[in-house]
Amino acid sequence: MSRPELQAPPEIYYGDTEAKKYTKNTRNQQIQADMTYRALELLNLPPDEPAFLLDIGCGSGLSGEILDEEGYLWAGVDIAPSMLEVALEREVEGDLFLQDIGQGFGFRPGSFDGAISISVLQWLLNAETSHPTSSPPHRLNRFFTTLHSALRNPSRAVFQFYPSSDDQIQLITSIAQKAGFGGGVVVDYPNSNKARKVFLCLYVGGGGGQQQQIPQGLDGDVVEDGKVRFEKRRARDLRKDKNGKRKSQKVIDRDWILRKKELYRKRGKESVPRDSKFTGRKRKPVF
Ligand SMILES: C[S@@+](CC[C@H](N)C(=O)[O-])C[C@H]1O[C@@H](n2cnc3c(N)ncnc32)[C@H](O)[C@@H]1O
Repeated sequence: MSRPELQAPPEIYYGDTEAKKYTKNTRNQQIQADMTYRALELLNLPPDEPAFLLDIGCGSGLSGEILDEEGYLWAGVDIAPSMLEVALEREVEGDLFLQDIGQGFGFRPGSFDGAISISVLQWLLNAETSHPTSSPPHRLNRFFTTLHSALRNPSRAVFQFYPSSDDQIQLITSIAQKAGFGGGVVVDYPNSNKARKVFLCLYVGGGGGQQQQIPQGLDGDVVEDGKVRFEKRRARDLRKDKNGKRKSQKVIDRDWILRKKELYRKRGKESVPRDSKFTGRKRKPVF
């Protein structure tokens, strides 16, 4: 069976039936979760600081649930209404936008402290979308240029994706560079057919943090039977509620709420109340 992005445009491929099937599949949940943890590792955000992230091609919110669990605020964009419908049913915390990323973003400059994207970028390499007159390089150019502007300086965007050739990696990285990004490609488990994963780590203004160079790919001993277990995830107790949604392990204490309130104030929200009942669920508009 050929890859999904070769079969139909994304909003058709991920119709009602496929969106539900994709989300319920426990093996899929695990793979997407593992890759999200790895993307967060590569994002290298300062520990214990609140951050507002963009989940690009958020789908039904499998990555978003992990962002919730890790205590991040986030917004997600996706082209497939059925995937977003499932995300809504699963009551993810992020703000959801129905949008074709190949058309570019309209977010305010510097809106996000970072971005992740899991298993999405390969869709932009295929011209057969709902906008067939727009070629992949044009769409990639609009995407990376507007993403660069939507990210804070310094910050990072990390994409796990499935390129079908080195030429595709070359095309994507050269367009990202022209849009102003630094960084490059990290390949985990390069010698394993099953576990090999490609991550594009893009930096705005050096990427922030201590490590400005491209991180090392993983290799070696955590591959069992083609499945990768990242250390951070292995240590977790992955409890789920009756809808199969992860239960947050995060302790929402007074300091956590105060940090969130401070973040909202920094983002210009004037009406953040000082009383302890405020839960931080309201967000600043990013358009
Ligand atoms: C394999 S799913 C991954 C979903 C989610 N990131 C996850 O890890 O579960 C790919 C997603 O990319 C979305 N997608 C593909 N092309 C897109 C585009 N041009 N604009 C926005 N979303 C797109 C699809 O609708 C789909 O939800």
